[in-house]
Amino acid sequence: MTDGYGRVIDYLRISVTDRCSLRCRYCMPPDGVDWLSHGDLLTYEEILTLCSAFCVLGFRRFRLTGGEPLVRRGLSHLVAGLRALPEVSSISLTTNGVDLAPQLPSLLDAGLTAVNLSLDTLDRAQYAAITRRDLLPQALEGLHAALSTPNLTVKLNCVPMGENDGQLVPLAALAKDRPLSVRFIELMPIGLGGSLPRRTEEEVRARLEAAFGPLLSCAPPPGAGPGRYCAPAGFRGKIGFISAVSHQFCASCNRVRLTATGFLKTCLQYDTGVDLRALLRGGATQSELQAAIAGALARKPLQHHFGTAARPNDESHNMHQIGG
Ligand code: GTP
Ligand code: 5AD
Ligand code: SF4
Repeated sequence: MTDGYGRVIDYLRISVTDRCSLRCRYCMPPDGVDWLSHGDLLTYEEILTLCSAFCVLGFRRFRLTGGEPLVRRGLSHLVAGLRALPEVSSISLTTNGVDLAPQLPSLLDAGLTAVNLSLDTLDRAQYAAITRRDLLPQALEGLHAALSTPNLTVKLNCVPMGENDGQLVPLAALAKDRPLSVRFIELMPIGLGGSLPRRTEEEVRARLEAAFGPLLSCAPPPGAGPGRYCAPAGFRGKIGFISAVSHQFCASCNRVRLTATGFLKTCLQYDTGVDLRALLRGGATQSELQAAIAGALARKPLQHHFGTAARPNDESHNMHQIGG
């Protein structure tokens, strides 16, 4: 369906947990997190009931996020449930990769169509420093498993934050001989992300062009969201930039988010939306759920205001509580 500004919204990001196997510095504090209890989380059944309502409203693409979605048990059952909805055209996963290798076969059997894997460095000591966990070998195993799967769309996400400047070229080089999209995501000033150094798209481009030569614009990979894509001559894969701060893409936004507690969040930056869990658990009918979703979409904000004083940031959560 279209929102109040005429944008077609057909893509839902579903956070299934706030928990994670890592503690990335821009996303989570090292400890002291007030975790959600199991009863706070939507059950898979509740998520699927809501997804039926989203499908009626024209949603076709669904992405599972966290925290880290693979730490929630039985995720492949949710994938299978989504696959069974006739309108659904893609079911993708955003993961840190740590638990991916053992779970990938059952996720693929259930109908998973794409994987985005977050990896900020290939250096083991630096990975342990950024994520506060020494799990790079497991994450690389996950990446390898994904890349070894025929016909699976795989994208890698890296957040340049100064500390990993020296890793931007080695990470981009992974796309040279592989059908992989390596994306550089500008750090967004959400939660802890507001207190770390940001590298802009221009700064990252300059480093990559010094190493590989000119980056030539190219078509986006399948299922691409807000990223813009390019590649140096001779690359098999692509380089992407998701630059929410320096190149705002809100005019073409096509998505909303469902948090693990069932809040339909209509813009990444703001706490506006509707509490679908309260409606569901209060006994709302399918048509009441659809009306609540449609009403929230009609009020979806025009744009975020990262990096400006135009509107204060009313999002007090950290990224693991939102789902990225
Ligand atoms: P594709 O559809 O495969 O391109 O996925 P994606 O890039 O939308 O999803 P992913 O979970 O890999 O997210 C990568 C980064 O893009 C994360 O940092 C997200 O927070 C950011 N992102 C995704 N959607 C939006 C959005 O609507 N607004 C902003 N500002 N950032 C977004
Ligand atoms: N800014 C940009 N990207 C972020 N991510 C987490 N926090 C931030 C932030 N503040 C990224 C993760 C992951 C994706 C879902 O979101 O690295 O790749
Ligand atoms: Fe976990 Fe992703 Fe947050 Fe890192 S960025 S702590 S992998 S949810």
